[in-house]
Amino acid sequence: MVLVAWRDALLAELGRALSQECDVQHRTLAMGLSQEGFIAGLADATHDLDIGLVVSNAGIGNPGEFLKLDRRLLQETLRLNTMAHLDVTHHFGVKLAERRRGGLILVGATGAENGIPCMANDGGAKAYVHSPGEALHYEFKPLGVCVTARAAALTNTAGARKVRP
Ligand SMILES: NC(=O)c1ccc[n+]([C@@H]2O[C@H](COP(=O)([O-])OP(=O)(O)OC[C@H]3O[C@@H](n4cnc5c(N)ncnc54)[C@H](OP(=O)(O)O)[C@@H]3O)[C@@H](O)[C@H]2O)c1
Repeated sequence: MVLVAWRDALLAELGRALSQECDVQHRTLAMGLSQEGFIAGLADATHDLDIGLVVSNAGIGNPGEFLKLDRRLLQETLRLNTMAHLDVTHHFGVKLAERRRGGLILVGATGAENGIPCMANDGGAKAYVHSPGEALHYEFKPLGVCVTARAAALTNTAGARKVRP
């Protein structure tokens, strides 16, 4: 099991707990998925593994009045919620198709397609996940790869508490 996110200490703690509970080996990678070119580092750090299930989950929301939000933050949010999924799906999609068996789960958000005031960029970015997810479900099926686009509903997590304290 490979765990990827920002904070190394939390990843290490989670990895230890999951290894004990599920009797699996783990590897942690602390990296920023909104950085351009991150996929090369992720590919390098996992090249020796036969990965069968990929969960592309990292995502953030930065609500607020659109015109008052910092443009760089808007761009970073967009990159993480779209380009990271694209790069992960393309890189691991090739590898899963080669092994002709496996799964890919892309985490989106309920309501994203509808346009959410004060979450205009967040909703637009999350809406991206659903369309390629549904399309690739059909496109990858003959390759033996099952794609699921998961529209997450409001869940009490650290990320959600940041959005709605
Ligand atoms: N919770 C909800 O109500 C809700 C609703 C709709 C959709 N979703 C979606 O569900 C998914 C999980 O959300 P969550 O609520 O569990 O959020 P969360 O508690 O904030 O967790 C997000 C995870 O993504 C990682 N992450 C964030 N930005 C990153 C970056 N630039 N590079 C690498 N890792 C990064 C975080 O790493 P660190 O912990 O190291 O910071 C954290 O592990 C997201 O895609 C979110 O959009 C959640």
